[in-house]
Amino acid sequence: MDDLSRLEDDITARIDAAADIRALEEVRVSALGKKGLVSERMKTLGRMTPEERKEAGPRLNSLKQRVGEKIGARKAVLETEALARQLEEEAVDVTLPVALPPRGRIHPVTRVFEEVEAIFAAMGFEVREGPDVEDDFHNFTALNFPEGHPAREMHDTFFFEPKDDGSRMLLRTHTSPVQVRTMLKEKPPIRIIAPGRTFRCDSDQTHTPMFHQVEGLVIDKNTNMGHLKGTLEAFLKAFFEVDEVKTRFRPHFFPFTEPSAEMDVGYARDGERIEIGTGGDWMEILGCGMVHPNVLTACGLDPEEYQGFAFGVGVDRLAMLKYGIPDLRDFFAADTRWIEHYGFKPGE
Ligand code: DAH
Repeated sequence: MDDLSRLEDDITARIDAAADIRALEEVRVSALGKKGLVSERMKTLGRMTPEERKEAGPRLNSLKQRVGEKIGARKAVLETEALARQLEEEAVDVTLPVALPPRGRIHPVTRVFEEVEAIFAAMGFEVREGPDVEDDFHNFTALNFPEGHPAREMHDTFFFEPKDDGSRMLLRTHTSPVQVRTMLKEKPPIRIIAPGRTFRCDSDQTHTPMFHQVEGLVIDKNTNMGHLKGTLEAFLKAFFEVDEVKTRFRPHFFPFTEPSAEMDVGYARDGERIEIGTGGDWMEILGCGMVHPNVLTACGLDPEEYQGFAFGVGVDRLAMLKYGIPDLRDFFAADTRWIEHYGFKPGE
């Protein structure tokens, strides 16, 4: 191999090795630039004899041309590669969601249900459930709401279309029908809670058409109001995680209990925060009483033999109080920012 062939091989190897446009430009200058290797060879033509020039001239010219072509070809390859790289780096996947996907959270209502169930389970209560769609017997009649009694109207009931026999199904207005279902099915002693959804045609800052309650029922031979008070106080202490809780029972009316009471808890307000347990103010927290003899009879129990207490508590209200949530309607607005803030991580 002669000198010119070696020079061409050398330049070609450097062209192929050039990793980018800038490196390639350096190779071009060092070969074809004014002081480049090929140009220096061209300059030697002047010093040659005419015979030598005749042979070397065309060879040098075609070498210069091939080097130029090789550089051009390599440049095209490098430019295509650079463009492909840039397109890949700057690519935008339009199928990706624009924000972080919302993370799953436990809803405060679910959380409170779990807390309430755990507290009552530790006191020997079992959980019972009933249907959301109820009939008049379980929601009203067996609970001692007489036909046409104004208390039925007070419940703002959602009724379904009448059936052929004229009866109407309804969305249960409270969890008390689960008392009835339990007493009809089970023999005392009974000690249950019934958590669930309830419905009334009502909506403002503290009322939503769907809300949640936990019903409690204890039936035995000598269950009395002292048991009711002790049970509810123990529950409130555990739920609000306080050592002392001040309560008072105010006489009230419910068709299904006699006597009936509303239970208030003492609380103190510290700015935005509400502290449950002590303090100079009272807040109504639940309804309760001794199960009415008419209810026991309607459920096939002899009121001469059995008696018991019942209570019903609003779960959404408990969640608002414990976790400082101001507006009930947000509970059901399905706003992921709200659930991110007020919800619980699993295991938290
Ligand atoms: N069912 C009542 C309501 O929704 C709450 C209630 C009060 C339930 C007293 C009871 C009770 O079991 O004894 O307003």
